[in-house]
Amino acid sequence: MSQEALPFEERYWPGLGAYQDYYRRSVEDIEEFWAERARELVWTRTWDRVLNSENPPFYRWFEGGRTNINLNALERHGSHGRGRVAYYWIGEDGTRRVISYDDLARYVNRVAYLLRETLGMGKGDTITLYLPMIPELPVFMLAAARIGAIHSVVFSGFSSGALADRIVDANSRILVTADGFPRRGRTINLVERAREAVARAKELGVEVEKIVVVRRLGLGIELGKREAWLDDLLREVPDKVYVKPMEMESTDVFFILYTSGTTGKPKGIMHGVGGYMTYVYNVFKWNWDPRPGDVYWCAADIGWITGHTYIVYGPLMHGMTSIMYEGAPDYPDPGRIWSIVGEYGVTTFYTSPTLLRLLRKYGDQWVEGHDLSSLRLLGTVGEPINPDVWKWYYEKIGGSSAPIVDTWWQTETGAAMISPAPGISLVPLKPGSATLPLPGIVADVLRDDGSRAEPGEKGYLVIRRPWPGMLMGIWGDPERYVETYWRRFSDPDNNVWIYYPADYAVIDRDGYFWVLGRADEVLKVAGHRIGTIELEDAILTHPAVSEAAVVGAPDPVKGEVPLAVVTLKEGYEPSEELEKEIRERVRSLVGPIAEPKKIVFATKLPKTRSGKIMRRIIISLIQGRPIGDTSTLEDPSAVEELKRVLGASS
Ligand code: WTA
Repeated sequence: MSQEALPFEERYWPGLGAYQDYYRRSVEDIEEFWAERARELVWTRTWDRVLNSENPPFYRWFEGGRTNINLNALERHGSHGRGRVAYYWIGEDGTRRVISYDDLARYVNRVAYLLRETLGMGKGDTITLYLPMIPELPVFMLAAARIGAIHSVVFSGFSSGALADRIVDANSRILVTADGFPRRGRTINLVERAREAVARAKELGVEVEKIVVVRRLGLGIELGKREAWLDDLLREVPDKVYVKPMEMESTDVFFILYTSGTTGKPKGIMHGVGGYMTYVYNVFKWNWDPRPGDVYWCAADIGWITGHTYIVYGPLMHGMTSIMYEGAPDYPDPGRIWSIVGEYGVTTFYTSPTLLRLLRKYGDQWVEGHDLSSLRLLGTVGEPINPDVWKWYYEKIGGSSAPIVDTWWQTETGAAMISPAPGISLVPLKPGSATLPLPGIVADVLRDDGSRAEPGEKGYLVIRRPWPGMLMGIWGDPERYVETYWRRFSDPDNNVWIYYPADYAVIDRDGYFWVLGRADEVLKVAGHRIGTIELEDAILTHPAVSEAAVVGAPDPVKGEVPLAVVTLKEGYEPSEELEKEIRERVRSLVGPIAEPKKIVFATKLPKTRSGKIMRRIIISLIQGRPIGDTSTLEDPSAVEELKRVLGASS
């Protein structure tokens, strides 16, 4: 790994000292620092306490403060918002919509009215949004927040099984979906999957009362008695209705977003009203240095945290004009992204290493011919970026003049935590490093025993102080919150609380952070977080399967892809047919994004004497590395067999 600084443009070099000064001041008194930052926003009541740490790790930010995200994302722009474009929406099929801040405010008010008056929702109710990348998704998010309801957005690429689990866990009585959407020219019938999920949720004890369906494609679908078209429902809503934003406590739950962890059950990550708002507002400003005339594009899906923070709440609080693109990035051709950048004069572009690897693979002829000169800032998120991809991005896309803002963060952290901050002062960049912790963030790398790693030594990334964007907990499971994030390195007896993100990292001699990948049983497939245990559970539902171990195998585009080693029950033989059926299980229970690249059949799995599957051995074999210590291995012949079957299948 290269840890050299890029000989970066002269004008950006002086940034380090100024950044370090700002950072130093920020951490001298983090409460005062964040209070100042929060004062930049609209509150209807000022907090009594910036941070209540009486019951760690259940921190309460801006306790006593009251606000609503709508006040900062819509109301705040008042009359200057008029006419200013919030979203240029581009459908995969070429359909376009232009939505001004005024249009957005009107639409949000009408939907808020509908949710409250027609559907009877109110503060604390949960609403599940299973929508493609259409403007109605941010509209429903803001409308839910406006009346104090809690949204749970489920990525539209998830299957009905995954959707059902999330509806049930959130106990959601209202589901919003669309008839369908185009994907690579095909039609995805979303409402069908939504219905399956609702049926499944009912079996699991949660009854969805209403499915609201957005007409995206105008498919000739007959709706059932609990289903209604959004446009029909809106006909009953006055055109210019105003719904006063519900005054929310800062520490109320703002939204839930499910993410994968190390058990089969996804975690409902809860973000709070005031803390998330304050953190996102500030980090957005530090990351993207918003300026009048910017055209900003975060090419993620709103179904993930990146979309919540960087397509919806961050840009709207800053009154940004954003691109929202519905479709596949390489459809109808691999130049689609760059043609949109050129056409709209995008200044700020934020995406994942996976997308960059994909587009680079197609060849530079798809980049050339598009005018990318408007780009002034580039960003990446979701996985470590390979230095060679970084250089391609920097040179080919940014014309060697747009800095790359590599942002390390998680669903749980609300917004970026470690990244360059051109909005403060740009530090020299190093390809592959997310650079330095943002203001107010105290990060470190620890050894297994909790002592600090030396510069250059690989260890576990940790965060030592609370920050406003932090998750408030896991929906319905406070114990899991403490267990997952706070047990590993904390010392409760001495009131030391250390947040554990489960990533490996190194700090180099200049204090730069290099995040190396997950330290737990979570994969990053094309930047999406997928729990190996979730996949194993799906595979185990197949009647022929006895045991399954899922690990990540390296992939040149997606970073890693799931590989499953499966043993069969007595009386079953490996076959292509069986492999197909197992794949189908994963697709239908979790979603196509989680489909294993390979399924390898074996007669036994490597296990410890106590019966724990040793995934580490499988990973070493795939990567062609020495398998290390095998003293706890129960049956060494399992390794010999694995070598054979993995070798044969690669
Ligand atoms: C990984 C995405 C290296 C990391 C916002 C983290 C990264 C997980 C980076 C969270 C980065 C995210 N460099 N690794 N810049 N950004 N990660 O919750 O493993 O989908 O823990 O949030 O992505 O994934 P999540």
